[in-house]
Amino acid sequence: MANRSGDGGEDMNEERTVILIVDDNPTNLNVLSDVLDEAGFEVRVAQNGKIALERAAYDPPDLILLDVMMPGLNGFETCERLKADPQTAEIPVIFMTALSETVDKVRGLALGAVDYVTKPFQQEEVIARVRTHLQISRLNKSLAQQNLQLKAEIQARMKAEAELKELADNLEKLVEKRTKELKDALHNLEQTQLQLIQQEKMASLGQLVAGVAHEINNPVNFIATNLEPAKEYVAELTRLLRLFMTHYPDPVVEVAEVLQFIDLDFIITDLHKIMESFQVGANMLTNISRSLRTFSRSDSTTPVPANIHDGIDSTLLVLGHRFKPRNKRPEIKVVKKYGDLPLVKCYLGQLNQVFINILANAVDAFDEYFQNGGDRSPQIVICTRAEGDKVCIHIRDNGPGMPDQVRERIFEPAFTTKPVGKGTGLGLSISRKIIEEQHQGQITCTSVEGEGTEFTITIPLSIP
Ligand SMILES: Nc1ncnc2c1ncn2[C@@H]1O[C@H](COP(=O)(O)OP(=O)(O)OP(=O)(O)O)[C@@H](O)[C@H]1O
Ligand SMILES: [Mg+2]
Repeated sequence: MANRSGDGGEDMNEERTVILIVDDNPTNLNVLSDVLDEAGFEVRVAQNGKIALERAAYDPPDLILLDVMMPGLNGFETCERLKADPQTAEIPVIFMTALSETVDKVRGLALGAVDYVTKPFQQEEVIARVRTHLQISRLNKSLAQQNLQLKAEIQARMKAEAELKELADNLEKLVEKRTKELKDALHNLEQTQLQLIQQEKMASLGQLVAGVAHEINNPVNFIATNLEPAKEYVAELTRLLRLFMTHYPDPVVEVAEVLQFIDLDFIITDLHKIMESFQVGANMLTNISRSLRTFSRSDSTTPVPANIHDGIDSTLLVLGHRFKPRNKRPEIKVVKKYGDLPLVKCYLGQLNQVFINILANAVDAFDEYFQNGGDRSPQIVICTRAEGDKVCIHIRDNGPGMPDQVRERIFEPAFTTKPVGKGTGLGLSISRKIIEEQHQGQITCTSVEGEGTEFTITIPLSIP
């Protein structure tokens, strides 16, 4: 029955186009099968709607010719079911009606049929319609296919676009990160440079002090060591003079004349007082000289047992001139409340640097305070005490204090509230490094605006 002439519009190699004819009238079925078979289609038949539905679902044909009037499921109902099943919904359905039958053609079309043919058939018309609708169906399918492809393509593009955007974002983030890293590196470099300058300044200060200490050391020794014999000689001479006065009450004229002009008793008493004050001065000089040497020699590279009080005293001595009255500010009083401290194994030179930084800050704060009309008598109190295996050093001023937002940042490198050129903002950050990293200690600050500031340094007796 099969005709492979290609009339069905199919290539020999391709599967043949399948037409399912549904009709309860066997004569009609046969006639139509022959016609379509002749035309090169593969024809299947079904005598009623139920069988048609089964066949269509089992192996969907390319087109269905469906009789309207049938016992059981009629054509409309069959068509309705075909369209309801996604597997068969797309198959084009052409209704067949007898000329004599009055059917609602519009209803059929509304149900999804594509056309009508009337019985008895005009063979050419049937074939022409079948071909047309097969063609339309194919076009529809390929359109749907293309649609799908287009959708897939659009999705792929959107995905690619999203990926591209993500890449761009990542690149931007990478650039931002690198820029930040570079900035940080530059910042670190600047910090290191500033720290080096600060260290260099401390080193030159140390050298300067060492030079001065060396220069005054000899004359101070000179005075201190000769003072004792000088005092003895004065005592001896006084004794001798008094003996002369006792044993020779009537001296020669020249001596009597001089005795009349001078107040010998006063001179002798005063000379003793002068010798005593020389002694006090010499002691002070000896102390200063010792302090200067402590300051300049404390630059050891290993921790050595040291007297913290000597360190503070030598720092006070070196900074002494800064406590003197200046502009509107009166002299700053320094009160020492030293406790009993054991020797502390530390880098005393570095601790001195911390004391200098804190004391210099207090002096700066007082200068500003009086510039702004402050009137409290400026005072710095330094307390020390031993506490278990630690020592605590408190340095408190009654200056202007600072607001919280400043106090929170004072240990940050390069944080300063001072004008450009006046402060580098490194003093406290270096101090913190020295206390926390070099000495495994702690440095904290409490401050009340309008009342003053207190720094507390705690360091272990021996660096762990
Ligand atoms: N005793 C204090 N009273 C009030 N403010 C203080 C006191 N000590 C420190 N500060 C504040 O802390 C800031 C940071 O101090 P730090 O010693 O680190 O830097 P600096 O003094 O500004 O600059 P540098 O020490 O390099 O000269 C100061 O600018 C100041 O605002
Ligand atoms: Mg400072």
